Amino acid sequence: MTPQDPTTYSDLEQGKIKHIDFRIRTDFSSRTLDIEATYQMQAPVHGSLFLDTFKLSVKDAQVNGRTLAWELDEEDDVLGQRLHLKGLDGADKFTIRFSTSPESRALQWIDAEKTAGGKHPFLFSQCQSIHSRSIFPCQDTPSVRFTYSAEVEAPKGLTAVMAAEQLPASNGSGKFGFQMPQPIPSYLFAIGIGHLVFHEFGPRTGIYAEPETIQAAAWEFAENETKMDEAEKLLGPYMWGRYDLLVLPPSFPYGGMENPRLTFLTPTSILGTRGQTSLITHELAHAWTGNLITNATWQDFWLNEGWTTYAETRITEVLEGKDSHDLHDAYNEKGLIKFMTERLGMDSPHTCLKLPGDEKDSDSFTTTVAYYKGCFFLKECELVVGRERFDAFIQKYMKRFQFQSITTETFLDFLKAELPEVFEKVDVHKWVYEPGLPERKNRPQSHLFDEVGKVLSDYEQGKRPTKEQVADWHRYQIMSFLNGLPKKIAVEDCKYFEDILELEKANDGAFFSPFYTICVVSGYEEAMPRIEKFMGTVGRMLYVLPIFRAMIETDWSKELARPLFEGVRDRHHQITIKAMDGLLKKNGL
Ligand code: BES
Ligand code: ZN
Repeated sequence: MTPQDPTTYSDLEQGKIKHIDFRIRTDFSSRTLDIEATYQMQAPVHGSLFLDTFKLSVKDAQVNGRTLAWELDEEDDVLGQRLHLKGLDGADKFTIRFSTSPESRALQWIDAEKTAGGKHPFLFSQCQSIHSRSIFPCQDTPSVRFTYSAEVEAPKGLTAVMAAEQLPASNGSGKFGFQMPQPIPSYLFAIGIGHLVFHEFGPRTGIYAEPETIQAAAWEFAENETKMDEAEKLLGPYMWGRYDLLVLPPSFPYGGMENPRLTFLTPTSILGTRGQTSLITHELAHAWTGNLITNATWQDFWLNEGWTTYAETRITEVLEGKDSHDLHDAYNEKGLIKFMTERLGMDSPHTCLKLPGDEKDSDSFTTTVAYYKGCFFLKECELVVGRERFDAFIQKYMKRFQFQSITTETFLDFLKAELPEVFEKVDVHKWVYEPGLPERKNRPQSHLFDEVGKVLSDYEQGKRPTKEQVADWHRYQIMSFLNGLPKKIAVEDCKYFEDILELEKANDGAFFSPFYTICVVSGYEEAMPRIEKFMGTVGRMLYVLPIFRAMIETDWSKELARPLFEGVRDRHHQITIKAMDGLLKKNGL
């Protein structure tokens, strides 16, 4: 059965793409990719085929040596344009030539001076959730999986990488060959081009970065080979061959993106402390939960992110111990409740795990609810059957649905067949289909989190913590503290906390984001130059958007928001620009 997906123009009754062969030429001066793509369908197509596109300029389409008629329909700001291929007459293979737009939502073209080395330009893609269509015409829904091969021509001196298997390079030709033999959904297509070097961690793992950052990056993530072993113990064999990382320029809009074989990573995770390696645990876990078993539609997003967050917490427990796990859990719960109450409303349909099916802009409804409510639901299931049985269930689930895209309902049917008592002891319907957060039985106590809670309540009584009190705090304790502070505090206290927590020294975006948000609301105007610098160098939306939202909502800084945005705009990704501009417009700025 084909699930309904409001985020695509494709009609899967017409047939499905099986394989795409790409010839890609990169042009940094015009900021375009020139592409010839040959599509192999699963079965002959009779009549029309609809594909998703976004600002692509289509040159021609060929089938069996003849020209194929095509038409691009009206443009929609979210979905792009439907490409209508006409008269396929039973063909199962055709070729389209096209080029991408400099405004492609999936591609970010970075001038040399904005990279770490400053001498060579950089290009990277970010396709999740519906941006592949701005690189190539496709059935841009996670329910369609295809394999691909690619030849990429990059400018001299630059290296091309893809989230695929690298074929032996023909030396110095500037041409790079790739193949992805495992079927992937379109959103996992990924490419990066830059002045890159490689460092190997172990037989299956390594990292690509600019020469200027490789050393620090290699140290930060040196535990990856061990992490792979732990992940396999929980989730079963790793099915993708290698697991490498690619460090991107700071404008990358996410922390990490689980592109198969090659996680794309923000450089803001290189802290010099290995403090943010749970980000890698998360992206690595996606190799199973997300990439091996994929949400069939974005309404089932929790199947990707909830399962991944669950796996992340299990692996963290093994690698960092129970105290750290429990602290993460408490922090995540607090954050989820805050997000649900302050941003969505507890009875909003967006607090359900299964999301409403009537919206087309999936980037706007895929929120942290899927991550943490999804994870907490799975923890409840684990509690009632016991860890041993749940672990056996996980391994069976991975095998049963590998390389498939499934809906929430398919998952629940499997859960019911394998662990029927879950349905007797957990209110599955309530967790999945009803808004809000049901009460949890599997809710660990975290003494590290409680310690922060005590400091926060003392502060609200007028007693500030001493420097000694916070000196040995775990990174998540500092995050819990900053996120737990009242929105508005005395400017003097902003300065005090900045000092005792040594925020400048830590240089951690996860601290700066809540801290600068408080600075704005509290009227700490002296911090503004630093806030501006942060907004111009860090692209991770999770960090940048809360500060920007606070600026827009606070009287003194409201008028500064649009000029600040215009000043940093060309340093950000199209996805971030769209989000920031949307916030300004919504507030009449
Ligand atoms: N797959 C997501 C990133 C994503 C989600 C991109 C939705 C586009 C649409 C990735 O795995 C992720 O969740 N990244 C998080 C980090 C994680 C540790 C919570 C991020 O980037 O903040
Ligand atoms: Zn994720």
